[in-house]
Amino acid sequence: MLAEVQEKIIQLTNELNDYNYQYYVLANSEISDYNFDQKLKELEALEAQYPQFKDPNSPSQQVGGDITHKFNTVQHRWPMLSLGNTYNEQELRDFDERVRKVVGDQVQYVCELKFDGLSISITYQNGKLIRAVTRGDGTQGDEVTNNVKTIRSIPHNLHPGRYPELFEIRGEIFMHRKAFERLNKGREQDGKQTYANPRNFASGTIKLQDPKEVAKRPLDCFLYFLYCENRAKQFPGHWESIQAVKEWGFQTCEHTKLCNSIEDILSFISHWDTQRHQLSYDIDGIVIKVNDYAQQEELGFTAKSPRWAISYKFRAECVETTLNSIIYQVGRTGAVTPVANLKPVLLAGTTVKRASLHNANEIARLDLHEGDTVFVEKGGEIIPKIIGINNEKRAKNTLAIVYPTHCPECGTQLIRQEGEAVHYCPNEDGCRPQIVGKLKHFIGRKMMDIQGLGNETIATFFQLGLLSKITDIYSLSEQREQLKKIERFGEKSIENMLTGIEESKSKPFEKVLFALGIRHVGDTTAKKLAAYFKNIQAMNDATIADIAAVPDVGERIAMSVFDYLHDPVHQLELEKLKAAGLQFAVVEQERILAGNSLSNKSFLISGVFANYSREELTHLIESHGGKIVSSISAKLNYLVAGDKMGPSKLAKAEKLQIPIISEDEIIKMINQDN
Ligand code: IVH
Repeated sequence: MLAEVQEKIIQLTNELNDYNYQYYVLANSEISDYNFDQKLKELEALEAQYPQFKDPNSPSQQVGGDITHKFNTVQHRWPMLSLGNTYNEQELRDFDERVRKVVGDQVQYVCELKFDGLSISITYQNGKLIRAVTRGDGTQGDEVTNNVKTIRSIPHNLHPGRYPELFEIRGEIFMHRKAFERLNKGREQDGKQTYANPRNFASGTIKLQDPKEVAKRPLDCFLYFLYCENRAKQFPGHWESIQAVKEWGFQTCEHTKLCNSIEDILSFISHWDTQRHQLSYDIDGIVIKVNDYAQQEELGFTAKSPRWAISYKFRAECVETTLNSIIYQVGRTGAVTPVANLKPVLLAGTTVKRASLHNANEIARLDLHEGDTVFVEKGGEIIPKIIGINNEKRAKNTLAIVYPTHCPECGTQLIRQEGEAVHYCPNEDGCRPQIVGKLKHFIGRKMMDIQGLGNETIATFFQLGLLSKITDIYSLSEQREQLKKIERFGEKSIENMLTGIEESKSKPFEKVLFALGIRHVGDTTAKKLAAYFKNIQAMNDATIADIAAVPDVGERIAMSVFDYLHDPVHQLELEKLKAAGLQFAVVEQERILAGNSLSNKSFLISGVFANYSREELTHLIESHGGKIVSSISAKLNYLVAGDKMGPSKLAKAEKLQIPIISEDEIIKMINQDN
């Protein structure tokens, strides 16, 4: 009996690990989410009963926590070294002198922008992208091939040309500032944590486990370095290799320049020091490389970096200005954020009037006083920050800034949860920015997406006393006469809006859950909660522990959901919304075409299909009496094979002489019966 349990645990562990590998590494989903969850639950139940058989790396440990599915570690064929840094002209002149001492006076340099992203090494064989690896510790990195393949500017196949049979090309993955700002704004609206700068966003993205998610984020890449056997025989130097890779189909930077003297280098640097803000992406310096490969070899390497290259780092721009005042913004969730109003000052190409102060701890850390002269810096971050105070300029007897104890909007006493840096206003149903913020969130594009009702209208309706809670939106149709009286709000607009409101009633449960604005519940969490509980009643009946058992939902979210659902005001609201006709349950797809043409037959679905998703095929087969299995055995009746199916599976099926059929053949089998 015990041996059987142990065997079952091992089998489930292996199966789930295999699915995870398929899904996360090969981007190939071999099982429906539902079936995966069922198996996981079975494993969790067995592990709870027989902890002695639990694998410390069990897949049950990888869901819901911070543990990520690891990438393969790959050794770099050529180590990925870093560059020595310089910060001033003299250090650059010293570098030039050192170079000339070794190679003589005939030296050319390639000057390049130093992109502020993450470096990547990509291997091509016979013109095909076969592997992409992050820098890691310089000697080995993470294999992120599938993620890198989603970057449009990186070719999967090269243009015909005389490229080496096998080579490695290195470059920098980054995100354009505009795309970063757009994505961060979206995250903010979804109640997700925002990223500090495009570099963090890019490196966070490339380490995502799901390439489909990576594909949604617009990453870009400049290539700046080629490695292959006998490189110096094919190209005299770095410059020529970069011209060649451009022709093979790689994106290189148009600003790269060949320089003949230190004076040329210095003018390149000073040009970009002032002009870098005109670029659509961030750079943090200039890289200077000796061009000639033979000279590079002569110069060699130190333990950490090449002697033939160096980087010049721009200083983060910093200016002095006066703190005019501090305002405390109250957000939709009640979080209070201090923002410094500054005397306007020019910094890194834009006029800065405000700086974020994050929270009370930051004000205390800076020991900020009223009217202080502050240093403001714009480094990699988009929002400038106050990095310090010019104490010499502080007037006598100024008062230290004291964080408010009460909400600046509604006067309610603020609360600060243990371990959290942020203060909250708890008066969520009576505090203006929270009410208006919640209403605006509710109608948002990714939530209820109510056509004909925009943020400005929400603000106007709130002011006129027509809206103060979500349920009021669904009784607006009873206020037609009132609405008609509003200036610049014609009958057509009213009709459009009321139609939009009516249509929103068919938005799925997961959208409704997201739209309610429950603290810490973004779109992904809402989806997971909806899929797990299926309806609001089941959620209501759940304990905090039940909610925390939902994949990827931690204690903090569970507590927030529980508190929300058990608040009498919210309960009344939810009842009213239900009565208005909003969706509070998952609508299962109708089992169209149901029959039993496939009964007593087992199917294994593998690969990617042209006309159906794997879920749709599973559904079709099951609704016709077929059984879906997940591993190949002699008992399997059919292997339904799509593109990109693993070769081992195919070989095994062939060996066991299992019929291999296509999606079209499945449909034929079903149609024969109908
Ligand atoms: S060349 C041995 N060129 O800077 C030379 N690096 O501090 C290797 N970087 O890890 C790098 N722009 O991530 C090179 N045009 C450029 C670069 C660049 C940015 C980054 C790269 C590297 C770091 C070195």
